[in-house]
Amino acid sequence: MIVGGRWSAVNPPSGRVGRVRVVLATPLDEDLCRLVEEREPRLTLIREHALLPPMRWPSDHTGDPEWRRTPAQQRRFEELLDSADALYGIPGEHDAAALARTVAANPRLRWVQAMAAGGGATVRAAGLTAAQLERVVFTTTAGVHGGPLAEFVVFGLLAGAKTLPLLQARQRAHEWGPRWFMGQLADQVVLVLGLGGIGREVVQRLRAFGCRVIGTARRPGPPPEGVDELVHPADLAAVVGRVDGIVVTLPATPATERMIDREVLAAVRPGCTLVNVGRGSVIDEPALVEALRDGRIGFAALDVVAHPGGFSRAEFPWAWSPEQRLRAVLLTRSGRRSIL
Ligand SMILES: NC(=O)c1ccc[n+]([C@@H]2O[C@H](COP(=O)([O-])OP(=O)(O)OC[C@H]3O[C@@H](n4cnc5c(N)ncnc54)[C@H](OP(=O)(O)O)[C@@H]3O)[C@@H](O)[C@H]2O)c1
Repeated sequence: MIVGGRWSAVNPPSGRVGRVRVVLATPLDEDLCRLVEEREPRLTLIREHALLPPMRWPSDHTGDPEWRRTPAQQRRFEELLDSADALYGIPGEHDAAALARTVAANPRLRWVQAMAAGGGATVRAAGLTAAQLERVVFTTTAGVHGGPLAEFVVFGLLAGAKTLPLLQARQRAHEWGPRWFMGQLADQVVLVLGLGGIGREVVQRLRAFGCRVIGTARRPGPPPEGVDELVHPADLAAVVGRVDGIVVTLPATPATERMIDREVLAAVRPGCTLVNVGRGSVIDEPALVEALRDGRIGFAALDVVAHPGGFSRAEFPWAWSPEQRLRAVLLTRSGRRSIL
């Protein structure tokens, strides 16, 4: 967790390398706090859980948005922040003003570990001076999620290939009837959008299954290891007709917004599986619902969705209909529920 050399180079103004005083600025379970202390004896992890919003689920770095500190709690919280060498989390998670206040008020602060995605944008919004940015190192959790998300991708692609919804429906109906076609990943072509930290982990696993992998790249160059072919993101509509699975690992940016749009979804090979572990905004969700309805997308496994409420009953009544229950969407994390 702490890179010794880097830390000793920037740590104590006194010149002595001492224990690092880390203050918990965003919620973390007490058993994980103890684990951190056990694994990294060079730090003292200061936490007062009562000063942090209660977590709604594991890894809820933001905590309950309705929760508020009393003025006395806020004073105590800031006192702790202002005594830290390092912060676990950006105070308020995406609160640029709180970050700016803390960096200005605490000259001993040397390191802030952003826990949730989007830390870079919060640091930019805080408008820190060059001297402050020189003094405080900001680190993120980029890369940490690659393994678990790549497994989720494999799970989604397998669920699509093996017709999981049909298996579940037959199990519920106690039907062990005639045979039907089940796909095999080894025969499949999978398009991976984004070949960054997550995309590369995905590619590695798909190779192990024997898939042919097409990746996207904005700049020309040789395909990275494990990728058979590269296409430009502007050419998706031309390529999706020959793939069995599409995997999105892209960030939310103006350029990626609705990259999987109606035109791309109109061109997919019928029954294609779609897995999204990047950001929900990359997919035009109303168009996806239509594609699921008519079978162009045979199965979707969505770890992220653009709508804060997931495919809510009010906005996507079809997704909640009895027919859909036999069909094909798994929602996790942001959706926080499965609608199957
Ligand atoms: N589901 C979750 O819980 C979860 C967890 C962590 C992260 N995420 C999301 O996943 C995203 C990717 O994470 P990562 O660690 O793989 O990030 P990364 O290493 O920065 O890789 C991002 C990839 O996206 C590509 N990309 C960016 N904009 C693009 C565009 N307009 N067109 C085509 N490709 C574009 C980049 O291509 P270049 O190489 O050309 O720049 C790069 O290959 C994060 O930004 C975050 O939004 C989700």
